Amino acid sequence: MNFELLNLDAAQAGHEKCDVLLMLLASTFKAARNPLATLIGKALKAGDLADKPGSLLDIYRPADLGCARLVLVRVGDGKCANVRKGVSAAMALIKAAKPKQVALCFDQAPDSASLHVALTTVAEASYVYASTLSKAEARTIALVKVGVPNSTELATPFAQSVAAVRGIELAKEWANRPANHATPSHLARAAQALAKSPRIKCEVMGRKEVEKLGMGAFLAVAQGSAEPLKFIELHYRGAPKSTPPVVLVGKGITFDSGGISIKPAAEMDEMKYDMCGAASVLGVFKALAELQPEINVVGLIPACENLPGSRAVKPGDVVTSLSGQTIEILNTDAEGRLVLCDALTYAERFKPQAVLDIATLTGACVIALGGVRSGFFSGDAALSAAVAQASESSQDLCWPMPLDDDYAEGLKTSFADVANVAGRPGGAITAAKFLQRFTSKYPWGHLDIAGSAWKSGTAKGATGRPVGLLLHYVLSLQTPAA
Ligand code: BES
Ligand code: MN
Ligand code: ZN
Repeated sequence: MNFELLNLDAAQAGHEKCDVLLMLLASTFKAARNPLATLIGKALKAGDLADKPGSLLDIYRPADLGCARLVLVRVGDGKCANVRKGVSAAMALIKAAKPKQVALCFDQAPDSASLHVALTTVAEASYVYASTLSKAEARTIALVKVGVPNSTELATPFAQSVAAVRGIELAKEWANRPANHATPSHLARAAQALAKSPRIKCEVMGRKEVEKLGMGAFLAVAQGSAEPLKFIELHYRGAPKSTPPVVLVGKGITFDSGGISIKPAAEMDEMKYDMCGAASVLGVFKALAELQPEINVVGLIPACENLPGSRAVKPGDVVTSLSGQTIEILNTDAEGRLVLCDALTYAERFKPQAVLDIATLTGACVIALGGVRSGFFSGDAALSAAVAQASESSQDLCWPMPLDDDYAEGLKTSFADVANVAGRPGGAITAAKFLQRFTSKYPWGHLDIAGSAWKSGTAKGATGRPVGLLLHYVLSLQTPAA
């Protein structure tokens, strides 16, 4: 699916050749003397199109217009939430007709966030999973022409949104693949494929190298599976070497059975999604490959399966992490923090300006925030402000969570420096407190995406979050042109 940005006012939008024209109308719409506006004016006068975000009016072969079908879409004040409502309602309406060329036009100049939401909503609604179907249905929309009256000022945001869509779709693709089609080795190959792009390099470590480094926590999780572990390191270098990088650490558990502390059978298949953090890092690199911005980014992905077996780590085992801290593994199902803690220590070597980890870390975060907002944890004010800003501008939302030291009480044990679990209360926060012990050398933030990274039920599937948020964050670090 390609996107094209056109400078069109409402009159010009009416002449655009396409299968479907989605005409977004804000509350402020004013009738004018051209075929499209006249038609809209009549519909409004007749009371056939309520001024309610998401209201639609579907018109077949309208006279004197370029489109075969016109859908009028109300978007209220034109702000993000209403644009999303309108565009997703319109996409649901036109889906069955399988249009090839869609024009998506705004009657009022959108801001970059509204434009971003429109593009990501079109992509979301038209995405089809294909990789493990024998007869896959291809996506029908080949081209989306985006018409705005202010295309010059939106050129850069448009390019960023298109790149975000590419990244989101790569993340969805990998996340949706079943665990036997998305092993650590497969992820490593996907990362190496990204390194074919300019400015990107990739290195992959196997068990021997990881052992030599001393990543005892990561190794403990991986040891129950015959599937080889991979530690994936991606580098995007768009700024001088002297510019400290941002490091993104993605949890890459390609299947989480719980290990010896095994999970119940119901919905266990969804634990193929336990690598959504890793997938989001791949997605960000895909977008960086397209945009080539002047920043430095490192991506780290500790990838393995968490399975039970005769070699699996056992509840009560104590392991030594890369940091030197010993960890009592009281619950083998709290494996994400174990693979992440070694990656977080490894991140120190890059002398980063900030480190963000992204993980489907806790069921408790799903209970706390549901699927709307990811949980965000950070003790760093500047990083928190930048992430909050990126959350808004991408509409890939997160919400600040606390890190009071009192939450770490439950992680105390007599048999190691720290235990890998505390009690059930505040489970998302105690998990974050565990990670925080490994992040003293740099500004750190943690995104718990257990609720936001995929949808369950009939619409089961990865969301590609938080690629949008991460991309907006890393791009915000570009030094503005002098
Ligand atoms: N991958 C899970 C977290 C998860 C659970 C994500 C459900 C999405 C939906 C993680 O590895 C896990 O099992 N966490 C445990 C931690 C507990 C043992 C302290 C959990 O949340 O139950
Ligand atoms: Mn687990
Ligand atoms: Zn897990």
